[in-house]
Amino acid sequence: MAILVSGGAGYIGSVTVHQLIAAGQEVVVLDTLEKGHAAALPPGVKLYQGSTGDAALVMRILSENRVDAAIHFAAYIEVNESVKDPQKYLANNIVNGIAFLDALVKAGVGRIVFSSSAAVYGMPKRMPIPEDAPKQPINPYGLTKHIFEGVLASYYAAYGLSSVSLRYFNAAGALPDGSLGEDHDPESHLIPLVIRAAMGKRRSISVFGTDYPTPDGTCVRDYIHVLGLADAHIRALAYLERHPGAHAFNVGTGKGLSVKEIIGAVKRVTRKDFAVEQAPRRPGDPPELVADPGNIGRELGWTPAHSRIDDIVASAWKWHSTHPDGFGG
Ligand code: UFG
Repeated sequence: MAILVSGGAGYIGSVTVHQLIAAGQEVVVLDTLEKGHAAALPPGVKLYQGSTGDAALVMRILSENRVDAAIHFAAYIEVNESVKDPQKYLANNIVNGIAFLDALVKAGVGRIVFSSSAAVYGMPKRMPIPEDAPKQPINPYGLTKHIFEGVLASYYAAYGLSSVSLRYFNAAGALPDGSLGEDHDPESHLIPLVIRAAMGKRRSISVFGTDYPTPDGTCVRDYIHVLGLADAHIRALAYLERHPGAHAFNVGTGKGLSVKEIIGAVKRVTRKDFAVEQAPRRPGDPPELVADPGNIGRELGWTPAHSRIDDIVASAWKWHSTHPDGFGG
């Protein structure tokens, strides 16, 4: 039986596909390739180019392959863009996502793992954040993730489609051999941008806000290695075989690092020096986002492998320095 992976040519999707294949699993990928890269897929993986909103295409994939579970990564992910163009986010992340679910239900697929986000919590007051913290997203991107979790709960109640929503904290890093990593356009994430500064591809790195109520004044995030994230998806699929329902788990390490600490780690690991500039706060950034990962540990037996910051940075450095133009190079 095969696993249908939407968005499987993206950053977290392609690493998960890689791990599924390594575990001997049959995988079918659906990706528009608008943001994803066919070159990120292991050789021989069946790729259908198209949208999750194309019901006829999804039905065709389901009739041509013996699919018994899905992982749904396909979505737009840029917070700033979602504020400027919410319609684009609602249409893709929710409307197309629902069309995808409908096809799965029609074809009798019973399990799905969904890419949710810490963005569902907005500006949480309590740290670390437990799953039952209030869900008050502060941008349309986070809203789409929160709404889709609700859709999945209704689809379990009405149609018996079981799901795990994985609320990612900050995905980072690359395969340890540097063969597969992050290639976003535009790139807005901290670690790849700091690495570009270390590579001399940027003049400097800007620290967005140095007056936050955190120990060193810069924002604190919970950085999780992409391989650990991929492993969470594989465990979630297995969990659903024994635990029908609509579940949601944080995926984080439980340990926060500041922007300044990340810059320090990149300088330490790469042994490169570069200019660091103070810049104004980026609108919408919560001061601190750190997961309480207790539930995913207890329920899925998951631990955050590879997520020491020096391992994350070393793997990302290997990927970016050997692929200076990403998949285009
Ligand atoms: N930052 C800088 N300089 C930069 C880039 C980022 O100081 O050049 C700071 C940001 O202000 C933030 C931290 O580095 O404090 C991390 O920023 P990222 O953009 O790497 O990640 P975010 O925490 O903003 O975003 C993550 C996920 C998103 C998700 C969001 C939910 O990457 O997909 O969490 O809050 F939507």
